[in-house]
Amino acid sequence: MFNLNYKKEISKRRTFAIISHPDAGKTTITEKMLFLGKAIRTIGTIKGRGNRKYAKSDWMTIERERGISVTTSVMQFSYKDILMNLLDTPGHEDFSEDTYRILTAVDCCLVIIDAAKGIEERTRKLIEVSRVHNIPIITFINKLDRNSREPIDILDEIEKELQLSCIPITWPISCGKNFKGIYHIYDKVIYLYKKNILLHDVNFFSLSNILLDQYLGKDLSKYTRQELELITNVYSKFDNKKFLTGNATPIFFGSALKNFGIDHVLSSLAQWAPPPLYRQSNARRVHPEEKKFTGFIFKIQANMDLKHRDRIAFMRIVSGQYQKGMKLKHVRIKKYITISDAFSFLAGDRILINEAYPGDVIGLHNHGTIKIGDTFTQGEEIKFIGIPSFAPEIFRRIYLADPLKQKQLMKGLIQLSEEGAIQVFRPIINNNIILGAIGILQFDVVIERLRIEYNINAMYEKINITIARWIRSKNNYSLYNFKKNNSSFLAYDACNQLIYLAPSIANLNVIMVQYNDIVFDKIREQ
Ligand code: G4P
Repeated sequence: MFNLNYKKEISKRRTFAIISHPDAGKTTITEKMLFLGKAIRTIGTIKGRGNRKYAKSDWMTIERERGISVTTSVMQFSYKDILMNLLDTPGHEDFSEDTYRILTAVDCCLVIIDAAKGIEERTRKLIEVSRVHNIPIITFINKLDRNSREPIDILDEIEKELQLSCIPITWPISCGKNFKGIYHIYDKVIYLYKKNILLHDVNFFSLSNILLDQYLGKDLSKYTRQELELITNVYSKFDNKKFLTGNATPIFFGSALKNFGIDHVLSSLAQWAPPPLYRQSNARRVHPEEKKFTGFIFKIQANMDLKHRDRIAFMRIVSGQYQKGMKLKHVRIKKYITISDAFSFLAGDRILINEAYPGDVIGLHNHGTIKIGDTFTQGEEIKFIGIPSFAPEIFRRIYLADPLKQKQLMKGLIQLSEEGAIQVFRPIINNNIILGAIGILQFDVVIERLRIEYNINAMYEKINITIARWIRSKNNYSLYNFKKNNSSFLAYDACNQLIYLAPSIANLNVIMVQYNDIVFDKIREQ
């Protein structure tokens, strides 16, 4: 009985993230999904950049001042008997390494593209990372209620730039003021556009219905029929295997703001996105159906609750059932811990839970013993792999107003780096401390946290570093020579891994050619 129920719990879960460039509509679509999933009752409760009604996650001055969400939340909601775990990815100035790392904890991604803009820089970067992990991708092309680019152009761009085959599932009929609706290639009907429709309120026609001529006008309905014939001939049919291996993406069109087309995306997530998948450990693959509990930490968040000043570790459950009060082994420190107060999240609210299943993300209180990449099991000595550090893209030298606090500064920085808030580098030729980040806001967060949590006043100075790569080589002699000749560009990270801090991309390219038996890594395993 337990087995049957357990398998059912696994198969009904979908764990996914929404990735997009800022302003493409991630917050709007999240809100509409939560609304359709009945997790919120009114629209306008989720905090986006321009929407400050929901202030629960305002845990720091920075966040309040800038009106952005530094915290990453996990949201759980149901849709047609399927339990969705939506992991929010920090998007605006709060873009950080966390945004990348969250992709290691999901089984599918929903990519939002602004129909007027096509693929933008952040989307490109995030998709690159998701491709490394072969994550299946569903694409929603948003804002069709505005003037848009030709849909075929956007699909061409996806195919060329991302090497991802496009499989249109729906197709828009015109856009902007003339937006008439969406043809669903598989349902073989046209859903007529009406602002802010409710699900049961959608009108639809088949292509052959003569009422369509009246609705679209003779010219547009003729054009639409021709265009759809072309589209269905040019693009491939949905192929589950290509989708699951991350080689083809089903494409949907709509308007998140006007609540049009979101239900198609949710249905595809329910129907096509994989249930929780296995994860690779250093010893073996761990499958969700296994009875023994395992999980890994992919994110640590400080100060989610200002009153408690606590740190929360986010754990993705890989196998087994979490039960309140269970004893878990913290593999790295080889200690058993009783977990009695794990919780789940709903748009900022914490809910204590009694049980959770593979695919779920649970929050654990962290009193400084949990690091990103840590594995928890019921005794087995394994470590999940593939929870990486990403080479930072922005660099600053940090220095103190009061130099006597150097020791505390280092302690604070090491702790913050273990949480993934920032990366810390110590050059091999001097005593500077260099910080590296992926999003600029990470620097402000670190200064603020050093001040509040460690009572340290620190400042930054710009530094001539543009790009970084971790260094390794099988050839000790080459490594020795490389170190000797390039010491002014080399530093150690918090795990004592050697990293090359290049002043320019051109410099890095020259060095890579010059030292061809040195490996320059963009990603490093935790
Ligand atoms: P993000 O989280 O990806 O950054 O985007 P967000 O949802 O905050 O949307 C960015 C802006 O685009 C918002 O307008 C939002 O209302 C608008 N938007 C989102 N989806 C659609 C759509 O389908 N059609 C149209 N026309 N607009 C859309 P804003 O003016 O910046 O903010 P707000 O004042 O509306 O909150």
